Amino acid sequence: MALYLVTGIAGFIGSALGGALLAQGHEVDGVDDLSTGFMENVPAGAAFFRGDCGESETYARLLPKRPYDAIFHIAGQSSGEVSFDDPLRDLRTNTGSTLHLLRFALETGCRRLVYASSMSVYGEQPDAAVREDAPCRPMSFYGVGKLASEHYLRIYGRYGIASTSLRLFNVYGPGQNMGNMRQGMVSIYMSMLADGVVRVKGRPDRFRDFVYIDDVVRAFLACLDHPESEGRELNIGGSGKVLVGDLLDRLLALSKTPARVEFAGETPGDILGIHADLTLARRCLGYVPRTDLDAGLAAMYAWHTGRSGG
Ligand SMILES: NC(=O)c1ccc[n+]([C@@H]2O[C@H](COP(=O)([O-])OP(=O)(O)OC[C@H]3O[C@@H](n4cnc5c(N)ncnc54)[C@H](O)[C@@H]3O)[C@@H](O)[C@H]2O)c1
Repeated sequence: MALYLVTGIAGFIGSALGGALLAQGHEVDGVDDLSTGFMENVPAGAAFFRGDCGESETYARLLPKRPYDAIFHIAGQSSGEVSFDDPLRDLRTNTGSTLHLLRFALETGCRRLVYASSMSVYGEQPDAAVREDAPCRPMSFYGVGKLASEHYLRIYGRYGIASTSLRLFNVYGPGQNMGNMRQGMVSIYMSMLADGVVRVKGRPDRFRDFVYIDDVVRAFLACLDHPESEGRELNIGGSGKVLVGDLLDRLLALSKTPARVEFAGETPGDILGIHADLTLARRCLGYVPRTDLDAGLAAMYAWHTGRSGG
């Protein structure tokens, strides 16, 4: 039985990962400042610490009984749009957290860290599946912070902390925060179906790569068994290239109530499109997404309507 730390355990991805680690019989400590997460998401059986990973005092309270076998650093302000509200806060909470955690890992003898990075590190790219060696020119403060974190992880590799940065594409699925209207393309559009109008910021010919939560969790877990993933950045996509207009059609087809789409405005830092080349993730992690978009959307819609009653 191993002991793991999961940051952001009260959020969408962190809670799913924490639950999966517990289901495998491991011990899990979780930390979260509950800025966008919820106590009810914290999986039963995890030891929970409330704290900001970007503040040193959090680490004074986190005293693992033995060195963590790995730290999964999932906590973060997760919206590119929100990063424009206060770039300094974004830097402190997202990138500062990574530096604090790396120092904490070094001091407490943890030698493995897996990081929730993002496709936002790439910025605008040619319309071809993007590889990890593409030049990174992030278009949001959020993406800059994720890229900086990846570099800090690389530097700490020299001090014996093996890390993997998973560049997650658009993650969706049951457990996503359906009330957050500034993060998560699928969750935002799906939550508006019941109102009869899906208001879309940006053009329908934008394109993304949508990856189901279970596939993301499998990718994080696979890092533990695949030393080839150490010291790398790896794309974690799912659907391949899907136009936003196509996503909307699929959602309208799923909806129990009639709905129409309105396009207006745009999101700061938004890009036309991006989708993942998964060759390296397949080679280093054995990662192949298993849930296709229609099955994933149907499962998420069933979960959403089951709890919202509509
Ligand atoms: N959801 C996606 O599509 C996506 C894509 C790429 C990368 N990511 C990254 O994955 C991670 C998790 O995203 P999510 O979708 O689960 O978002 P989320 O908002 O549901 O979860 C983030 C969690 O981290 C907590 N948190 C935020 N800042 C913190 C801090 N400084 N200290 C402690 N806790 C803090 C929040 O309270 C929340 O519980 C984030 O780092 C995000 O940038 C997500």
